[in-house]
Amino acid sequence: MFSFAKEMAAVLAGCSILAAGATVFAADSGGDSLKWWQKAAVYQIYPKSFADTDGDGVGDLPGITEHLDYIGSLGAKAVWLTPIYPSPMVDNGYDISDYTAIDPSYGTMEDFEKLVADGKKRKIRMVMDLVFNHSSEQHAWFLESKQSRTNPKADWYIWRDAKPDGSAPTNWRSIFGGSAWTWCEERQQYYLHTFAAQQPDLNWENPEVRQALYDAARFWIDKGIGGFRIDAITYIKKPAFVDGTPDAEDGMVGIHSMTANTEGILDFLHEFKREVFAGRDIFTVGEANGVVPADLPKWVGKDGVFDMVFEFSHMNLPLKNGETWCRPTEWKLTELKDALTASQNVTKENGWCPVFFENHDQPRCVNHFFPKGADTEKAAKTMAAVLLTLRGTPFIYEGQELGFANVAWPSIDDYNDISSHGQYKIALQEGFSPEQAMEFVHFFSRDNARTPMQWNTDAQAGFTKGTPWLPVHEDYASVNALVEAGNPGSVLSWYRTLAKFRREHRELTEGAYEELMPEDEQIFAFARTAGKRQIITAANFSLKEAKLPAEFLLGKRQLLGTMPKGETKILRPLETRIYEAVLE
Ligand code: GLC
Repeated sequence: MFSFAKEMAAVLAGCSILAAGATVFAADSGGDSLKWWQKAAVYQIYPKSFADTDGDGVGDLPGITEHLDYIGSLGAKAVWLTPIYPSPMVDNGYDISDYTAIDPSYGTMEDFEKLVADGKKRKIRMVMDLVFNHSSEQHAWFLESKQSRTNPKADWYIWRDAKPDGSAPTNWRSIFGGSAWTWCEERQQYYLHTFAAQQPDLNWENPEVRQALYDAARFWIDKGIGGFRIDAITYIKKPAFVDGTPDAEDGMVGIHSMTANTEGILDFLHEFKREVFAGRDIFTVGEANGVVPADLPKWVGKDGVFDMVFEFSHMNLPLKNGETWCRPTEWKLTELKDALTASQNVTKENGWCPVFFENHDQPRCVNHFFPKGADTEKAAKTMAAVLLTLRGTPFIYEGQELGFANVAWPSIDDYNDISSHGQYKIALQEGFSPEQAMEFVHFFSRDNARTPMQWNTDAQAGFTKGTPWLPVHEDYASVNALVEAGNPGSVLSWYRTLAKFRREHRELTEGAYEELMPEDEQIFAFARTAGKRQIITAANFSLKEAKLPAEFLLGKRQLLGTMPKGETKILRPLETRIYEAVLE
């Protein structure tokens, strides 16, 4: 990385040329009216894999507290913790057996309170993950509900009789594979589960259920947290229970296509907002699979239900139906740009986006968004530049700031992720060979994002003194926080540079977004404009040199770049530059 000499400024100052056809928007919503979470970055932690202080091979809350300064160095003012509640861990905490306690493997409530307090001292607030579409089958509510058809919680989950032939009430396939219905001997009925059989769906139609969930959310607000990420929320409203047209050899249809974002869901969510979030100094971000950019005005902004939602059209590009891994598809850079631009544009006057390229369910971005064979470090830096210069709140997922890449373990038995096992089976059913099925697993398994954090060059990358619950990535000797902190050219140093740059350039928080060169299949370029000042990002996502048009370069002064200074008109493979321009 480098900064250009000041003398260039004199030559270029006063230039006013934008790419042809570019529109300049007035700075939207005004700097001072932005909320704290709009100016900050959010750092996402998968607690199981972050830092283990007691040697049991599983990360814990004291491990997070120890690393708050590291997190702060990335410009993060909030930490999204994936679930830390008591759980049988069938889906690593997304199967919750008690909504208002801490799983002993992560520590105690006192550890949590210390994390919140130590975070506050650094102006870093905790964000809890609310998993309210379903609980664990071990939750007391479900244990009671399943006992009979008449107990007080009989209607807290979704129970249906079998079809006359004894089969499941509908042909829906759960997201992790297999029927979305499981038979219960005690009740002689089936219950519905969007995900694993151990994750029964709660019945949101029942007002008692909703109130119990709201109480749980308020419990955490009272602990002084800074926000909520709301899991799988687009599935809470179930439409009619009818069969769908089969989409695979198993005669079933993916439940997502039947139940995601259906009529009436927003009524529930407006109530949720009124009862829990409204008027509180917290932010909310919903996981909104099935919501498309055109829906956003109903979900975010002044008439919306959340402050932000994760909308997945850009993440789902490599998948034909956004759900079944064994149908990967080719995609083009213009599709990625269109997807990102769509949500940016829809929210430009009303609403706000989270910007994200990774999370605990996704491949590492260096594998996800770049051609095979791309240099990991270069790709990671390019993605970082885009992440931290787009409009919205950037979400950095643990390890992304170090340039983590996917793993590729030889056997399906090496994988912990429950969804990898389901998807592997589907791939075999669809007629793929075990080798091909493993290729899908290598690309899409959620374990790619869940290998332990790499802190240093010690055994197990300094993550644990014991045996880690998931193997450490083999690249840890060079890809780790300690080594990268000492290297000004590392991915980590680049993230820190960008965090500082973002803080110092209000265009990047307040400025309007404008896509440049929308047709280009190699370069993603966009401008962020506040008043007369612009910051422009140009990122080459390809493995070939890309030409920057003369009219693009006119009036621009390069401020930062992922590579040492090169030829002005050429972006080298995977190179990103950040420019400034002053409008007349
Ligand atoms: C969300 C979570 C994922 C989990 C699922 C079920 O998609 O991000 O990790 O498996 O919901 O709770």
